[in-house]
Amino acid sequence: MNKNLPQLTVIGTGYVGLTSAVCFAAHGYNVCCVDSNQAKIEMLNNLICPIYEPGLSELMKENRERLRFCTNIPDGVKFGDIIFICVQTPPRLDGSADLSYVEEVAKEIALNMDSYKVIVDKSTVPVETGQHVMDTISKYTKHEFDVVSNPEFLREGCAISDSLYPDRIVVGVSSPRAESIMRVLYGPWDYTKLLITDIKSAELIKHCSNSFLAMKISFINSISRICELVGADVKLVADGMGIDKRIGEYFLNAGIGYGGSCFVKDVSAFIWIAKKLGYDFELLKMVEKVNRDQRTFFIKKVEKELWILKNKKIAVWGLSFKPDTDDIRNAPSLDIVKHLVDEGAIIRAHDPVAIQNFKHEIGENQSITYHTDVYDTVKDADVVLILTEWDEYNKVDLNKIKSMMLSASIIDGRNMFDMDTVRNLGFRYQCIGRN
Ligand code: UDX
Ligand code: UDX
Repeated sequence: MNKNLPQLTVIGTGYVGLTSAVCFAAHGYNVCCVDSNQAKIEMLNNLICPIYEPGLSELMKENRERLRFCTNIPDGVKFGDIIFICVQTPPRLDGSADLSYVEEVAKEIALNMDSYKVIVDKSTVPVETGQHVMDTISKYTKHEFDVVSNPEFLREGCAISDSLYPDRIVVGVSSPRAESIMRVLYGPWDYTKLLITDIKSAELIKHCSNSFLAMKISFINSISRICELVGADVKLVADGMGIDKRIGEYFLNAGIGYGGSCFVKDVSAFIWIAKKLGYDFELLKMVEKVNRDQRTFFIKKVEKELWILKNKKIAVWGLSFKPDTDDIRNAPSLDIVKHLVDEGAIIRAHDPVAIQNFKHEIGENQSITYHTDVYDTVKDADVVLILTEWDEYNKVDLNKIKSMMLSASIIDGRNMFDMDTVRNLGFRYQCIGRN
């Protein structure tokens, strides 16, 4: 054990907390992971990863000796010189972020502190949360402490490489002492990527980044509608735009809209914060509207293709909100499948890893069957809907698919395939923003 390195505690072992903890351990830190969910901690102690994230399980096992897992906050607080808050900040009914878990954890930290600690917020929180966390901790402890904002930008599906090789590391501090500790912490990372700011700016950077990316997606989805109306190809338009370095090629894939735990929640939280501060963020309201409309628009395509949905057999490929994850939070598949089932359709769904989570969210439903073999979804099907661009769908034998279907029709919500190739095989192939 390297005595010069600070010891770390991570509270909340979800996508963000667990990935961060494992990556810190990979850089030689001893990390105590605390989670209130006993079942999760038991799994982790048996080296079973509770989430599907490529590479995470392997990296966790490789660094086992530097990781410990427990449910006991007092032990965790005593262990860590630096304590990360990584609990969830779910949306409330009005769109604002529910910060009650953050407050509760801050209080628990304060009550169990026995020396100076740096308390780092990694959860996505509204601007000014750092100040509330400081106020909360001050109420319950006499010990010295610093609060830091260190937003996490990792994407699910490539969380490990995003954590080990991030584009930037943002650290918002309010004291030189905290700054120097955080500089030491991130020593093993590429130092040129470290941006030190005040706490409020760091908090804002996270909401601004996610909102901007969501805006980019809604922009290209709006353009996809225009492309369909005039007979242009949104993929080519996006390519042409993306070459311009000022615009950039990423996040210009038109589809059925963004999902996931962050964009939906953070855009609505940002609208809410702006309103609270006295600014009506109309631009972001439109980003949300375009995103919702994109799902409805896709459903309309299905209705147009099948005429009556009742008793039609629909193969659904992909349930997770994006490939390489089992996460279905705010996945477009939830809204789309619910609507189709309500209209009486029979759904045969495939996903490589997200079936359990989807079932859990949508509940038992006799109109939906789940399949681990994609070919089992298409027997006598009236249409295939592609809702997540899993790489495995690129490898299917489309001739075999066609021979098994009642009617050779694909509606691709993720623009996966080359249009001419699929159409030349005899499919009716519809996608987004391409005619
Ligand atoms: C994270 C961030 O924290 C969130 O703010 C951001 O917007 C998205 O990413 P995520 O890691 O996806 O959230 O959350 P989740 O997978 O729900 O994990 C949170 C963990 O915290 C859970 O394991 C939960 O059991 C744990 N938790 C929650 C505690 O240990 N204590 C609590 O009081 C509350
Ligand atoms: C996002 C942010 O990218 C990350 O920085 C932050 O820490 C958490 O939120 P994540 O939600 O894991 O990450 O996935 P991301 O790859 O950003 O995709 C979000 C959604 O946007 C997915 O539903 C995806 O399908 C959709 N998307 C993405 C598009 O529809 N088009 C695109 O061009 C890109």
